[in-house]
Amino acid sequence: MNKDYFDIESELDGEILLEQEVTPDGVEQFQAWLDTAIREGAKTPTSFVLSTSTFEGKSSSRVVNLRRIDEQGLYFLTFYESRKCRQILQNPYVSGLFYWPELGRQVRFEGTVIRVDDETNNKLFARCNDTQQLAAWSFPQSQTVPTRKYLETLMDDFREDFGNTKKIARPSNYGAYCIHPQMFEFWQAHNNLLHDRLQYTLFNGTWKIERLAP
Ligand SMILES: Cc1cc2nc3c(=O)[nH]c(=O)nc-3n(C[C@H](O)[C@H](O)[C@H](O)COP(=O)(O)O)c2cc1C
Repeated sequence: MNKDYFDIESELDGEILLEQEVTPDGVEQFQAWLDTAIREGAKTPTSFVLSTSTFEGKSSSRVVNLRRIDEQGLYFLTFYESRKCRQILQNPYVSGLFYWPELGRQVRFEGTVIRVDDETNNKLFARCNDTQQLAAWSFPQSQTVPTRKYLETLMDDFREDFGNTKKIARPSNYGAYCIHPQMFEFWQAHNNLLHDRLQYTLFNGTWKIERLAP
């Protein structure tokens, strides 16, 4: 097998990103870019790559969906027994990456995660749609399973159990983590390759903004 891909170019471009046009707070700047991505019709604006690692530094990545932002940070929902959560227990330091090709934008961030309390988790679970709630009960995420049929049966069984139940309670192994960001990098593509990179780093509660070479 031998093939190269130099003829495949990603055509990415966008407005120039200047220090005087960004907000001093990293989370607010992220929210502004996310709002723009949603407004401009980015395909999966709230999906991001989350990277976790083991105690020894072996890393793994996967896509998850952002469910909420507040002054604490960025929240995603998942199964607490999954591979990512097993790694988070070993090393609470994670990194994330949003990529919005329609805008030629990438946002990297790094921080520590905290497991969300039951009360907040119940509120977040109540916002999930019926299928998401059913899936939360049905799947042993990251475990090996014999067949697809096995999962279909699990889902069917829970669907039957819940019947017409209006308010499905949250299973205790499903909930959110909140990522407290300590670093953001806002990257804006330009077709002359002179891309903008603004890095925000949190020092004693204040964000320091620096430009990095592309
Ligand atoms: C667009 C997209 C959104 C996803 N959102 C989530 C999510 O919010 N939570 C989640 O646990 N998995 C989500 N997944 C599935 C994960 O990528 C992954 O397969 C799963 O979390 C198991 O990962 P782990 O074995 O490393 O824990 C999503 C996948 C895609 C492609």
